[in-house]
Amino acid sequence: MDEKVIIFDTTLRDGEQSPGASMNAAEKMRIAVQLEKLGVDVLEAGFPAASEGDFEAVSGIAGKLKNTEVAALARTSKKDIDRAWGAIRNAAKPRIHTFIATSDIHMDYKLKMTRDEVVKKAVEAVKYAGSLTDNIEFSAEDASRSDPDFLCRIFEAVIEAGATTINIPDTVGYAIPQEFADLVKYVMAHTPNIHKAIVSIHCHNDLGLATANTLAAICAGARQAEVTINGIGERAGNTSLEEMVMALHTRPNYIPISTNINTEQIYPTSRLVSMITGIIVQPNKAIVGANAFAHEAGIHQDGMLKNPMTYEIMKPETIGLSASKLVLGKHSGRHALRSHLKELGYDLSDEELNIVFKKFKELADKKKTIVDEDLEVIVTEGILRTADIFCLDYLHVISGTTVLPMASVKLTINGRPVQGAGYGNGPIDAAFNTIAKLIGTRSELLRFSVSALTGGTDAQGEVTVRLNEDGLIALGRGADPDIITASAKAYINGLNRLEYLKAHPVISSEAL
Ligand code: KIV
Ligand code: ZN
Repeated sequence: MDEKVIIFDTTLRDGEQSPGASMNAAEKMRIAVQLEKLGVDVLEAGFPAASEGDFEAVSGIAGKLKNTEVAALARTSKKDIDRAWGAIRNAAKPRIHTFIATSDIHMDYKLKMTRDEVVKKAVEAVKYAGSLTDNIEFSAEDASRSDPDFLCRIFEAVIEAGATTINIPDTVGYAIPQEFADLVKYVMAHTPNIHKAIVSIHCHNDLGLATANTLAAICAGARQAEVTINGIGERAGNTSLEEMVMALHTRPNYIPISTNINTEQIYPTSRLVSMITGIIVQPNKAIVGANAFAHEAGIHQDGMLKNPMTYEIMKPETIGLSASKLVLGKHSGRHALRSHLKELGYDLSDEELNIVFKKFKELADKKKTIVDEDLEVIVTEGILRTADIFCLDYLHVISGTTVLPMASVKLTINGRPVQGAGYGNGPIDAAFNTIAKLIGTRSELLRFSVSALTGGTDAQGEVTVRLNEDGLIALGRGADPDIITASAKAYINGLNRLEYLKAHPVISSEAL
């Protein structure tokens, strides 16, 4: 099996377009480092023209990664391409990814351009990008609803102009697997210079067919797949990396094409992305969902005991989900913690280790055993969220069957301590009302959910909130052995993310 498909990960670009999934630069960097460890070939770090924050995050990642290609997205304007190049020019392996829509509906209504104008613009953009780098990807947005002959025409022109990868996106998740495979075959058969470029696909999951379409396209000849961790992305999301990689890994007899992915890093990467974005993985999600390897029915359990292959097509260890996790406790020392964090992919400075060690000891006083998920929370909350404006210093709640629930809260806001007390319908409502009053937020709580981070009654509660302030959506996540504290942490994290969004506005398309 020597044929390979290039894995182009767009978790930090299309994935970040999931409502509420915005990340700060440190969080993006952490994910980028993990994606390199996972073995993705190309990492799309962002859309530098979209915001100042994106530009900074992309250039930080470009300066850090050594083996992975770093791509930056740009529309076909010179201004966008300059921004993209400015952010990735220091990368070991930079790639400019430029795109323009090619479907009649997009060209007529959105771009108000003719086919000839679109081809001209695409060619000019690719030629201009070619003056900066020889690694250029061109995407025909809404390709699956475009005239196939027009696609061939524009692909031929951009390859002639210097594009080295041409991408066929199913932008609106409209394609059906056989139809999409036929489109890829058609493009490959009718674009005369196609052998000079890699054919890529980029699928969205609006009909739940993103993985199926991606696999069908690979069978038809595509050799780059654009994917995201946990399938996060615009609307219903993108093709999930773990699903398509594990499909190839599990069925090599049917599709003899491999990837460079280190599958044992799939589960840690999925956890990290979920932890940082606040987007929970549904329990029945293929490969990485909490139930993906859980066998409930007696008849299945019986079969599993006799031979795991009766009901298990993949081993949990293959995706890095080991049954026996190294467990640390209150007697574990700094050295054991450092080496375990390193195994998890966190190479911390001495100063960072001090912060994590202190929090680890605090947690170990409340909870007998500390497992990987607990450590991930500590690092996420203690290190990656250091630039927070609002920090929780203290929370005290009174509640019960005979008292009016009351919370007293002390926060630090931009380094300044503030405190207050308030009531609510329950202890969480009381805590939220008090925090909202101290911060003076106008945001509205759209969703609140609680789950347990691990098994056992001493497990940390994990809370996710979704907030809306004047159309800006932010997710917040918090974990703590006490679910009221976890809720307060999640709320404050969501409010911090709203502040980040306000401070890093996405530049409107008209302004570019
Ligand atoms: O879905 C899409 O068409 C995209 C392009 C920018 C590749 O995300
Ligand atoms: Zn997309």
